[in-house]
Parts: sequence; C-alpha cells; structure tokens
Amino acid sequence: MLIQCGALPLTLAIIYVMASFRFPVDYLTVAVLQGLLAAALTWKLALAPWWRAIQLLFPLAVLTALALHLPSWLAGAVFLLLLGWYWSTFRTQVPYYPSGPAVWDAVRQLLPRQGRDGQAPRAIDIGSGLGGLSLYLARVRPDADICGIELAPLPWLVSWLRARLAGSRARFVRGDYERLDFSQFDLVFAYLSPAAMSGLWRKAVAEMCPGSMLVSYEFIVKERSPDSIIDATEGGVPLYIWYF
Ligand SMILES: C[S@@+](CC[C@H](N)C(=O)[O-])C[C@H]1O[C@@H](n2cnc3c(N)ncnc32)[C@H](O)[C@@H]1O
Repeated sequence: MLIQCGALPLTLAIIYVMASFRFPVDYLTVAVLQGLLAAALTWKLALAPWWRAIQLLFPLAVLTALALHLPSWLAGAVFLLLLGWYWSTFRTQVPYYPSGPAVWDAVRQLLPRQGRDGQAPRAIDIGSGLGGLSLYLARVRPDADICGIELAPLPWLVSWLRARLAGSRARFVRGDYERLDFSQFDLVFAYLSPAAMSGLWRKAVAEMCPGSMLVSYEFIVKERSPDSIIDATEGGVPLYIWYF
C-alpha cells in the first residue's frame, strides 16, 4: 500500500507532462503507468519477486472493479477476509499451507506413550492453521494432551469451530508461539518457512526440556543437523526431528 502511495506522485507528474504535450491520456494509461512504477519501486526495495506482479496488477484490478461497477463494500470485505487469513504474514514470513494425513500419521508414530513426567504426553502444533494435525492426533491418541496455537484469527476460528463441532479434546489457542513456553511440551511440531527456522531453533534450545523433541516438516535448521529424518510423504518431503 505504501509503495502504491509512493508511486502515485510520480505517476501524476508523468501524466501531467504527457497531458501538457497533448498525449492522449486515459484511465488505462494511468493504471498501467502506476502499476509499472509501483513494480519498479518493489524491485528497487528488493521485496520478494511475486510482489512485483501484485503491484503491477493492483491498479488494473481497481480499474476493472470500477468498470464492473462492483460495490465498494466488496473490496472492504475481501480486505477483511485476507487480513483475517494472513494477519501478520508480512512479519512472520509464514503463510498458511496445510500438511496432510501422511505427515499427521508420521507425527502420531513419534508421539511418546507417556510424557516426561509420567503424565499424558503433551504435543503442540505451532502455527496450527485449520487444525488438521491437532484434530487428528486428538482423535487417534485420546490419552494425549494436544494443542494448537495460531496467530491468524480466521484459521484459528475455523480450527476452534471444527474442534467444537467434532467434540474434539484438541485445544486451540489464538496467539504467537514466540510468546509460548516450549518447556511444557514433549513434542513441538512446526510447519513454518525457512525464514522462521533460526528463531525457532534458538527458542527450542533455550526452552525445550531433556527428553522432548522438535519436529519440523519440510524446513530444516542450519544450526544443527537433525537427529532423525523421516520421509513422511510419497513426494519425499521429509520430517526433521531433533531430540533434546
Ligand atoms: C504452513 S502453515 C501450517 C499449518 C498447520 N500446522 C499444518 O501443518 O497444516 C503455518 C501456519 O503458521 C501460522 N503462524 C505463522 N507464524 C506464527 C506465529 N508466530 N505464531 C502462531 N502461528 C503462526 C500461520 O498463520 C499459518 O497458519
């Protein structure tokens, strides 16, 4: 949004010059120019490449919405929906994409019979999305204490409702795993992104207790080789395991 705002004065200046030289200027020209300038700014600021396409197409999308006479509340509604779904992905660099049943079953096999204190084993999915893993674990291991924590409100709400409707014992907390104390858990499952792994590792080393394990699907940490690797899916995407 800031980049679009930043490109606007330059777009207006160029349009002004074009109009002074009697070049034909229409809304499409303005939208294309604005998109190109915003994409160039995006490139200059070294944002991820896919932002360039978004910046390029955004003014054209606005123009299309106007041409189609779409009601203005629709833009607000879509904005709120995306906000609820992605929340602070711009900060965490971890968007939502789900793991599947093969991964969930591999995690089930890793879950110990007993917790470190002889009580029920405690597992958490940090960034639990729509709650698939936690709901599955709570169903097949009713003796275990299963929890999910999710930052984005909309996926969290969906997971909470799914647990309610299914009568599941899985608990879903809305919050930031970075503020959670990992020492309570026997198994911490993460399906995050490369950008999050170093921070996660530092937190795990500082907080996880002897006898517990960190399980990461797809993404490895650079700081220490995993103690074990499981090919959980046919696609060969691994589960990495570190024992503490
Ligand atoms: C790749 S999805 C994985 C979803 C789920 N764990 C699964 O396996 O299907 C990552 C999720 O982590 C959430 N997330 C990212 N950073 C987070 C944080 N700091 N605290 C809690 N959740 C976070 C995102 O909103 C997203 O839903």
